[in-house]
Amino acid sequence: MDKKTVKDIDLKGKKVIERCDFNVPLLEDGTIRDNTRIVAALPTIKYLLEQNCAIILCSHLGRPKGQVVPELSMTPVAKELSRLLGQEVKLAKDVVGEDAMKLASELKPGEVMLLENVRFEPGEEKNDPELAKKFASMAEVFVNDAFGTAHRAHASTAGIADYLPAVAGFLIEKELKFLGDAINNPTRPFVAILGGKKVSDKIGVIDSLLEKVDTLMIGGAMAYTFFRSMGYTVGNSICEEDKLDLAQSLMQKAKDKGVKLMLPVDTKVGKEFKADTESKVVSYKEIPDGWEGYDIGTETIKMYTEELQKAKTVLWNGPVGLFEFDQFAVGTNAIAKTLAEIDAVTVIGGGDSAAAIKKAGLSDKMTHISTGGGASLEFIEGKKLPGIECLMDK
Ligand code: 3PG
Repeated sequence: MDKKTVKDIDLKGKKVIERCDFNVPLLEDGTIRDNTRIVAALPTIKYLLEQNCAIILCSHLGRPKGQVVPELSMTPVAKELSRLLGQEVKLAKDVVGEDAMKLASELKPGEVMLLENVRFEPGEEKNDPELAKKFASMAEVFVNDAFGTAHRAHASTAGIADYLPAVAGFLIEKELKFLGDAINNPTRPFVAILGGKKVSDKIGVIDSLLEKVDTLMIGGAMAYTFFRSMGYTVGNSICEEDKLDLAQSLMQKAKDKGVKLMLPVDTKVGKEFKADTESKVVSYKEIPDGWEGYDIGTETIKMYTEELQKAKTVLWNGPVGLFEFDQFAVGTNAIAKTLAEIDAVTVIGGGDSAAAIKKAGLSDKMTHISTGGGASLEFIEGKKLPGIECLMDK
């Protein structure tokens, strides 16, 4: 990495403000459903503790839009951090108010505190320099380890770096290494699997991957826009009628680049959007009226998994079906199982595909599962991430 990390500067005994991505899914009772992002932040926090730093952690949680929303308080995160670190993590009552400033000024080496949800402050998402200055005033060094939020130019992710020496933590370093190596330096054959609802959400990603991969497999609802662009009817399946030309041009680009673009040859359709709806597998050319496509079909699973056996690097972003419903999780589970078995570098681009792998109990079988959803997509697209750009060069 060409950016400085916590290892590149002297942090001994320093007061550090560290941005993490503790934007974790919560259950209805306000407890944490999945602590992956908190666990992923531990190596840097532990390293800072070894350096005898006083650590002020901060993060957003959800989208409170500049208002104090009590349900989005960092309370459950502070509790979970305390449990995982085996020491008290004090939670400030505010973000940069009286309580946060007092706690931060009194914080001793070896102690850890957490600010309230940074998005309770209206200046956060506006990248307000006044707010950035207030964050910076609490510490001597800024550490960014919030890979999942690195695509946002906010006061606590980027603005703050204007006022403090700024370095990356180990999570950002690791994410850039695995995602970067997979994309820019893959052992070939390099296969990407892309799922998701809309072609329009993934145009940049498809475009960029067509420059890099040997094979691109399409799954998820966006496949139906491709079928439609070939002139077939898709029943009630999700389809972007205004993106048919785009689908055609992506297929042409694949041809021009010599990339094997694989589309499903069959699909599992259901009558209604519910877990136990009636379902059947049909050819992509024969999706009946009144039915909606929710998964790749049996032949496609066979075709995709056979192709994956030959891969040496696989990048996967987006489930290939409606994996929340068991009967439409067959394709996604088959892909996850195949990735767990093959002798290849397997990199999962965060978000729903990471959740699907976790649900299948196969997380520890993958080379790397990104903690970033949107951030990993923007990285794959080749966009600059403000939370990383702002850090000091090596
Ligand atoms: C995420 O969950 O993708 C990150 O935490 C960023 O959240 P945001 O999309 O609300 O900025």
